[in-house]
Parts: sequence; C-alpha cells; structure tokens
Amino acid sequence: MKAPIKLKVKPIRNGTVIDHITANRALSVLKILDLPNEKNTVTVAMNVSSSQMGSKDIVKIEGRELNPKEVDKIALIAPYATINIIRDYELVEKGKVHLLDKIKGVLKCPNPNCITNTDEPMNTKFFVIAKEPVSLRCYYCERIMEESEIEAQF
Ligand SMILES: Nc1ncnc2c1ncn2[C@@H]1O[C@H](COP(=O)(O)OP(=O)(O)OP(=O)(O)O)[C@@H](O)[C@H]1O
Ligand SMILES: [Mg+2]
Ligand SMILES: [Zn+2]
Repeated sequence: MKAPIKLKVKPIRNGTVIDHITANRALSVLKILDLPNEKNTVTVAMNVSSSQMGSKDIVKIEGRELNPKEVDKIALIAPYATINIIRDYELVEKGKVHLLDKIKGVLKCPNPNCITNTDEPMNTKFFVIAKEPVSLRCYYCERIMEESEIEAQF
C-alpha cells in the first residue's frame, strides 16, 4: 500500500495564523495587512476543506502580530476568522474577530457630499446592516456601502 501524501509546511516560530477566513478572501486579507513585503514569510492556503465552514482560507505570517485596527478590518470581509498568535512555536493566544454593529473611523464614506468628507475633520460612522456579504449605511448621509466598495479602500 502506498503511503498517503502529506504536504508539510514549515511551522511558524513567531507570528500569526489567521484561520477560518471566508473562502477566497485570503488575498483581501493580505491587502489589509500590506502583504507580501520583503521581510515576512507568508503561507496562504485557499479553498481548503473545513468541517465547520465547508471551505475556507488560511494565512500564516512569520514575524508579525496584528494590531486591533487590522483585526477590525479583517472582520469586515472575514467575519468568522480566528486569530492565532504563535510564540516560540507555541499557540499562546486564540481569538475571534468581531464585526460590531457600528464601524467608526475605519472607512471613508464614498459620498463626496457627505458631511464626513468636508474640510472640517470628522470621524466616519457606519451601521452594519448585513454581515455576509457585509453592507454598511453611513450614519450621516445614509449612503449604502457594499463589500466591493469597502475592499477598494483596503
Ligand atoms: N507553530 C505553528 N506554525 C504554523 N501554524 C500553526 C502553528 N501552531 C498552530 N498553527 C495553526 O494554527 C491554527 C490553529 O491551531 P489549533 O491547534 O488551535 O487548531 P484547531 O484545533 O483546528 O483550531 P480551531 O479550533 O480554531 O479550528 C491551525 O490552522 C494550525 O495549523
Ligand atoms: Mg480547526
Ligand atoms: Zn456619508
């Protein structure tokens, strides 16, 4: 009998594994994180089978931990993502992203006439009106923002 084929990816020593990314969104996650770059080794798996999700994407980044703003952006396009922090080859922290009901200050309103786009500096605020795919409504001008417009800002 033939031995089963086992593809082995080198484990991460220090870094982050973003698991349970909605299938085919890994490239958007890379865009949010400004990857690839010249210093971090990145492993990407797309459309792998998952017992929980059917199929999913995974991104593994050596030498990088994420800041809260990056995690909030990932939640917009991959609401079920798990953030696993690896230190010295050990999984030391596991968390889920959270898509809140309101998104403050992360995105620009696409309506040029919106009060948030005038000279007066002002934070944006959107209500999350649908989660998968995500759809937002500007608190100020009620402009609806769809996923493609959100991704275009990353
Ligand atoms: N040192 C490491 N290098 C690379 N990837 C790692 C390392 N340690 C864990 N992982 C990956 O991190 C993810 C989470 O690991 P864990 O052992 O918690 O798996 P799990 O039990 O399937 O988690 P979950 O319940 O979130 O699905 C997996 O995708 C695993 O392959
Ligand atoms: Mg798992
Ligand atoms: Zn607006």
